[in-house]
Amino acid sequence: MLRENRIHSEFWFPQQVIISDDSNFKKVKNKFLDYCKGEYKKDVKGEDKSNSLGWQSGNLPSKGVVYEYIKQGMEACLRSQINFKENITFSLSNYWVNISPKYASNDYHFHGGSDYSGCLYIQGDKNCGTINLNPHLSCNTTWMDSVTDEYKTAYHIYPSAQFEAVEGRMILFPSYVMHKVHPNLSSKERISIAFNIRFH
Ligand SMILES: [Fe+2]
Repeated sequence: MLRENRIHSEFWFPQQVIISDDSNFKKVKNKFLDYCKGEYKKDVKGEDKSNSLGWQSGNLPSKGVVYEYIKQGMEACLRSQINFKENITFSLSNYWVNISPKYASNDYHFHGGSDYSGCLYIQGDKNCGTINLNPHLSCNTTWMDSVTDEYKTAYHIYPSAQFEAVEGRMILFPSYVMHKVHPNLSSKERISIAFNIRFH
């Protein structure tokens, strides 16, 4: 006897990436650049986190203009894009500066101990190295090459996602998503502030 098929699909395990641009960023860019370069001068050796050839600061203090700007930006992103239960609050658990000159990159890593992570681009362009989010690292994803372009586009059927370093743009993603940053192929330094968020 033949099967009588009753078929439906359910898309599970979404990775919600939130992207926010700031129309006023030009007004604060130089101040933020000075801040990042100032942190570099204070600690030229920096930290050895995921960077290759680049510089990363240690965790920076939970106060000041940059802290408040990131906090306000991330809260706006989360509140507008995710439906939270009542009384959920967010804290910026840590943030740090990245300065990546030509050929600098960041190896694959994820951010343990936080809920969402993000990056704010202070200086960059399309050749400064994209961030690559890859929740399927080490998995065989070749089946994704077999589907039509329309289906790929409609449902984001890709092994990974790339985002350019657009000045003033903030990108948020779940902290468990593995990610790396491609080498900076521009002579312009890629300068960004990365951060982690906890939900309470
Ligand atoms: Fe990271």
